[in-house]
Amino acid sequence: MTAPNPDLPDLSRSAYDHLWMHFTRMSDYQDAPVPTIVRGEGAFIYDQRGKRYIDGLSGLFVVQAGHGRHELAETAYKQAQELAFFPIWSYAHPNAVELAERLAGYAPGDLNKVFFTTGGGEAVETAWKLAKQYHKLTGNPGKYKVISRAVAYHGTPQGALSITGLPALKAPFEPLVPGARKVPNTNIYRAPIHGDDPEAFGRWAADQIEQEILFEGAETVAAVFLEPVQNAGGCFPPPPGYFQRVREICDRYDVLLVSDEVICAFGRLGTMFACDKFDYVPDMITCAKGMTSGYSPIGACIISDRLAEPFYSGDNTFLHGYTFAGHPVSAAVALTNLDIFEREGLNQHVLDHEAGFRATLDRLRDLPIVGDVRGNGFFYGIELVKDKATKETFTDEETERVLYGFLSKELFDNGLYCRADDRGDPVVQLAPPLISEPPLFDEIESILRGVLQDAWAKL
Ligand SMILES: Cc1ncc(COP(=O)(O)O)c(C=O)c1O
Repeated sequence: MTAPNPDLPDLSRSAYDHLWMHFTRMSDYQDAPVPTIVRGEGAFIYDQRGKRYIDGLSGLFVVQAGHGRHELAETAYKQAQELAFFPIWSYAHPNAVELAERLAGYAPGDLNKVFFTTGGGEAVETAWKLAKQYHKLTGNPGKYKVISRAVAYHGTPQGALSITGLPALKAPFEPLVPGARKVPNTNIYRAPIHGDDPEAFGRWAADQIEQEILFEGAETVAAVFLEPVQNAGGCFPPPPGYFQRVREICDRYDVLLVSDEVICAFGRLGTMFACDKFDYVPDMITCAKGMTSGYSPIGACIISDRLAEPFYSGDNTFLHGYTFAGHPVSAAVALTNLDIFEREGLNQHVLDHEAGFRATLDRLRDLPIVGDVRGNGFFYGIELVKDKATKETFTDEETERVLYGFLSKELFDNGLYCRADDRGDPVVQLAPPLISEPPLFDEIESILRGVLQDAWAKL
């Protein structure tokens, strides 16, 4: 291993030597400083030199209520003094009970049981395990497979990674968990069929799930995992009618519908749970990130009474759990965070401003490099192309040189933290804190405009 460049600041050298950053090509930091954020306030973050950046991604789709909320910090401080830790393994503490009840109240239909985790991947893992055991308990032991969508990201535990539809992320760890099948996603910009008819495209995309169930044999399929708006690939909203048709198909074949709302829940789309925005009731919701606005980690799998029923009888037990799940501090912080949502009307704020945010980003469509702008709520992807007419995308070399070598760093240097991503086609993704207002949208647009123009010149 090469030693870090001695001219780098101490913290960067130490980071290179000891902090193994996630999803990060570590060799990049042998010779370059690690961007280091030390403080946050509202929709802004600050580096160690005091330079201000717009937090255009809410950290990682997390900081819904914005940075620097003393109320959340004080809740954590008080709770740690009172009861810093106790597990929810056959015991309870009041915050976990209260939060579970509160989440059940927000969740649609009979989704009334909350199984806490410490994050999103564990919630997805939990949902698959629960689906398998549910089917075993109800006389369908052969139902173990899951269906999810191409390019979708569902987390890194080996079950969740199997559900993930990104071959490059999975390849180093194959073989993974057997039985995870993929169907096309709802990227209408690159629809293979019905690209000019969203309803027909939605029917087609939903029917791919039915085809897959029939191809595998319904007696082998346990669940379908779908995000309300798919993140990886760049914010694919569902076409009209898509989820209604998926719901019918799942019911027809006794396949459970899991709404993976790790990103979309807690106001990202302007509703507590995103299935409400698109008017469907899943059998399970997986969620995490925004539940505490990131002031402490927690996740959950929310389960319908119908699914829970067999687990609540006789000596049946869901043999699954995590030490830190439902942590007292995180649960307390989540409750205060949800109070802030109610008091400040954060969901309504997103609903009131989503059209304005979209319209501001839509202005970028006049740039030759902008192929598509799509998303929902405060969650948008801007797809970059080489040719608008043909939708021709970047070559690998251009992605490396322009997206990673130029765009990511240049946006950051110009004061906008967001994500340039090529897990599908190249996109820039935006998900600012839910408190964001129109002047911030304008600032985001103006930074993007300048940097995207420069990126175009480099193609
Ligand atoms: C839809 C979805 N599911 C699961 C996960 C995994 O969550 P975590 O990183 O908290 O394990 C993510 C993370 O971004 C996600 O976007």
